[in-house]
Amino acid sequence: MSSFFTDDSAEAQAPALEGEASVPASGAPPQASGTDAGGLAAPSAGVTYAVNLVVIDPDDIARNRLLTQLGTDVSSFPQIDDLIPYLNGEPVVLVLGPSCAIDGSLNGVERVLHAHREVGSILIAEELTTNLLQQALRAGVKDVLASPADDTQIHEAIDRVAAGLATTPGSPGGDDPPFEGDGEIGQVITVFSTKGGAGKSVIASNLGVTLAQRSEKPVCLIDADLQFGDIAVMLKLSPQHTIVDAVSSLDRLDASLMQNLLVTHESSGLLILPAPLEPAFADQIGATEMIQIVEVLRRFCSHVIIDTPAYFNDVVLGMIEVSDEVLLVAGMDIPNIKNVKIGLQTLRLLNTPMEKLRLILNRANSKVKLDVTEVERTLQVSADILIPSDIVVPQSVNRGVPVVQSSPRSGVAKSLEELANFFAPVATSGRRKK
Ligand SMILES: Nc1ncnc2c1ncn2[C@@H]1O[C@H](COP(=O)(O)OP(=O)(O)OP(=O)(O)O)[C@@H](O)[C@H]1O
Ligand SMILES: [Mg+2]
Repeated sequence: MSSFFTDDSAEAQAPALEGEASVPASGAPPQASGTDAGGLAAPSAGVTYAVNLVVIDPDDIARNRLLTQLGTDVSSFPQIDDLIPYLNGEPVVLVLGPSCAIDGSLNGVERVLHAHREVGSILIAEELTTNLLQQALRAGVKDVLASPADDTQIHEAIDRVAAGLATTPGSPGGDDPPFEGDGEIGQVITVFSTKGGAGKSVIASNLGVTLAQRSEKPVCLIDADLQFGDIAVMLKLSPQHTIVDAVSSLDRLDASLMQNLLVTHESSGLLILPAPLEPAFADQIGATEMIQIVEVLRRFCSHVIIDTPAYFNDVVLGMIEVSDEVLLVAGMDIPNIKNVKIGLQTLRLLNTPMEKLRLILNRANSKVKLDVTEVERTLQVSADILIPSDIVVPQSVNRGVPVVQSSPRSGVAKSLEELANFFAPVATSGRRKK
């Protein structure tokens, strides 16, 4: 793509930077001619971007290094303020070099990103610290990569940022959900079972996708299976941030910072706060932190769905307590029913109001030789939803496409839609753009 600096006045205003890309006079692509290419990955010759790219770094060597890596057709400036006169409403992705992370340079970045919604940015940092990550996200930077970042990492990050940019100055970014809350508090729904493999994650992810498609406001799914959460895998997402980042930013966590931590499931618009990438991080996260996260999310989401592990722990109990609804999932076999019965007794002992419990019987086919009414009698709760067993479910899990999207006519999808009707009936709800 040619440079967006097409204004004739550009030549007069453009900084004359020796030995690097400069702003062209009339749309001619600037040439990257890094002077410090020794030891770097080969320049990405031939790579074109579907967006205008600008490298910012006060340090000449660092700037040239990034220009060399990004290839031709990229402009550069030492300071972000130098760029402002050239912003003309076209989408721009800034690649902030490592020197931008020091000396309070991110304040300037925050100002520009706030004023120009058509500008997005990523930061390449020498060292990734929690503090820096917080500062960058707070400034509106979408992604922070450790230096040296490889070509694929940078290209993917640029593409992700470009996909969400507004096309006119001052307008809200692309399909971004409205993150300013309207004062209405969202409904919190925890999906729980005392038996592993009962279908919690399948149900939570499909419910999330269905509600996101129906709701005008954002819908968020939290993967609170902190050790072995697999929501990201089920929805074929490669998250940059997880619950760990939200927890480490808790003292300043608000809706806008949260926005930068969530990953969007593009085809439905569902927002996801993924589980930590390493099981060891689970130890750092307790109920208090998770409740705080839920409270931030419910300020701007119509629904916050929480997927959980198959056992009671501090976090699960906290989530159940803060929830408006708890979906108790039971598979249709004797061990499942036994465990769910124990789970129900525990919830009663903990004084969980039974009104907020809904029983979901998963894999409830006549073929399993277990009678639903008998199960209900054993559990002393009647089932709200029966979900049949169907091969389309593991197929959809393996494809990373929720069954409500991959096999919308299946009995499983219809049951899941029926489940969603409890929270957002189709008839009365508007549909989002996606
Ligand atoms: N209705 C169904 N029909 C067929 N297969 C199903 C059904 N529901 C779930 N499964 C399969 O069961 C497996 C376990 O489902 P899922 O991961 O949702 O369970 P879970 O309760 O979240 O498990 P864990 O406790 O390990 O987190 C999945 O591979 C899924 O394909
Ligand atoms: Mg699960």
